[in-house]
Amino acid sequence: MCGIVGYLGPKQAAPVLLDGLTKLEYRGYDSAGVAVLNPDGNIDVVKAKGKLEELKKAVDGGRKLRGNCGIGHTRWATHGEPNEVNAHPHINDEQSIAAVHNGIIENYAELKAKLIRHGYKFYSETDTEVATKLVDYYYKKYGDPLEAISKFSLRVRGSYALAVMFEKYPQTIFAIRKDSPMIIGVADGETFLASDVPAILKYTRNVYYVENLEIARLEKGAVSFYNIDGDEKDKAPVEITWDAASAEKDGYEHFMLKEIHEQPKVVKDTLNSLLHGGEIDFTEIGLTDGELENINGIIIAGCGSAYHVGVVMQYVIEDLARVPVRVELASELRYRNPVTSGELLIVISQSGETADSLAALRAAKERGLKTFAIVNVLGSSIAREADKVIYTKAGPEISVATTKAYSSQLIAGYAFAVKLAKVKKTITDAYYSQLINELFALPEKISSVLENRESIQKFASRTVDKEDVFFLGRGVDYAVSIEGSLKLKEISYIHSEAYAAGELKHGTISLIEKGTLVFGVLTQDMLVEKTVSNLAETQTRGAVVAAVASEGLKLPDDFDRVFRIPETDGHFTASLAVIPLQLFAYYLSVLRGNDVDKPRNLAKSVTVE
Ligand code: M6R
Repeated sequence: MCGIVGYLGPKQAAPVLLDGLTKLEYRGYDSAGVAVLNPDGNIDVVKAKGKLEELKKAVDGGRKLRGNCGIGHTRWATHGEPNEVNAHPHINDEQSIAAVHNGIIENYAELKAKLIRHGYKFYSETDTEVATKLVDYYYKKYGDPLEAISKFSLRVRGSYALAVMFEKYPQTIFAIRKDSPMIIGVADGETFLASDVPAILKYTRNVYYVENLEIARLEKGAVSFYNIDGDEKDKAPVEITWDAASAEKDGYEHFMLKEIHEQPKVVKDTLNSLLHGGEIDFTEIGLTDGELENINGIIIAGCGSAYHVGVVMQYVIEDLARVPVRVELASELRYRNPVTSGELLIVISQSGETADSLAALRAAKERGLKTFAIVNVLGSSIAREADKVIYTKAGPEISVATTKAYSSQLIAGYAFAVKLAKVKKTITDAYYSQLINELFALPEKISSVLENRESIQKFASRTVDKEDVFFLGRGVDYAVSIEGSLKLKEISYIHSEAYAAGELKHGTISLIEKGTLVFGVLTQDMLVEKTVSNLAETQTRGAVVAAVASEGLKLPDDFDRVFRIPETDGHFTASLAVIPLQLFAYYLSVLRGNDVDKPRNLAKSVTVE
């Protein structure tokens, strides 16, 4: 939530900052702002309510702000309504210090009261203005930015990625983070700061991942790191291998459509990173067969779509490897007092920064559980803190609605399940080989589903006025249904519910009326008849029924529309069945004139509780 950027170098800062913010707009988009140190040595601040376009107009694409050192912010409001006053950067009274912040200062009210007692006045409702003025307070007291930031961090509770400019230090940006992401990139004579890699990918691939409570001092083409006591630290950059083009739309109308089409590739890349010589091989991530053999229980935690991947994994792991699995919403798990008995905790997260998932991971570690993460963003907090990590190879995912990250998480989950089953000897060698072949066949099968996009587009245009859409399925098909439903409500704003097909008649069927659209997901041989009966029950009450079904499954001929997907092993059908549902949500969102990539009220990376 919220994106921050910083730049120092020979170029005009404002256009670079605006460009970086464009890549981070997925993190928040209710207001934005930039602060640039002008050639007269003063800090100029421009802010605007609404999407980044408004800020770009306000600064005339950057031309109204001159100077080579600046910071910027795109906001997802937590404290105070989204307006220009509450937008970042925030400044001290003399406008000699400006700061941008991603995170939440939990004790901001108490700090604000303290600062008011010291004569400070406040113009906004934000915790960030409090943070800025607290830095100002300590700067005035100690006369040193590093000391001020260090004192700030000892005094605040909560999460922050904070970048601060001081008028008296014209070619320097100071920064610190705790539990909110921050990276710093260095190129020849230039230094960049951002919440996420895509913001700086076109300028440099040499990236430093700032650690919790590490202070950074950015200068042109250089960066120094300090611990909280002010001692300098050695730190090496990481080379980012992501392709710069992957953070561009590449001719597609929306990032979501581009990312949907990237799925065959990212699934293949993820698979290739986990298989060597035709065998699933976790030695690179340090997960030995001995460790796998000792797993007697698994808890999977995640939020949103990542949680939905966990639901698929539960079915697949239990069926293949016969190990008990519990799937938990990370936001619930973190506040429960669960009974655990040495299970492995698997956390799934695209961003690796989701606050609830990170907290669930930390709580599990405190209980002495072994932890394992499936993460997309290299060097992210969850990736760093988990005992072992599988990196999915989705590349940067920009659209708020996840598609390619979800698909690559599924693949990583399948590989884990199949490997566990092999080690536990719950599947034969022949079936193991067959499953591997099926995994390798998935990218092409996903491509073939994508080829049918026009029929889904047509169906979407016929259903654009629906007010309610239900998704029904059993087993893995239920897991796909909850993802299809989330995707739809997230970007089309159409009310939707997903139900385990057998559960509908325990209450929810009362919502079905003439014309209600019900999507059946039908990929499981053994369950198809049962789900078809449940769909028939909705038809009897006037529902229009559409289905996503595996080739070869016999269906009644009175369904309004059937989207067929290729056959695969029953454990892997989620990878194919989800594609028509992603496309359906996408086209409905477009048809309704919504902002597909940046749906209202949402942010890509949820770094607050
Ligand atoms: O970065 P994460 O995978 O931890 O994010 C979890 C959810 O916020 C995310 O999957 C969310 O539900 C998506 N926007 C759904 O499309």
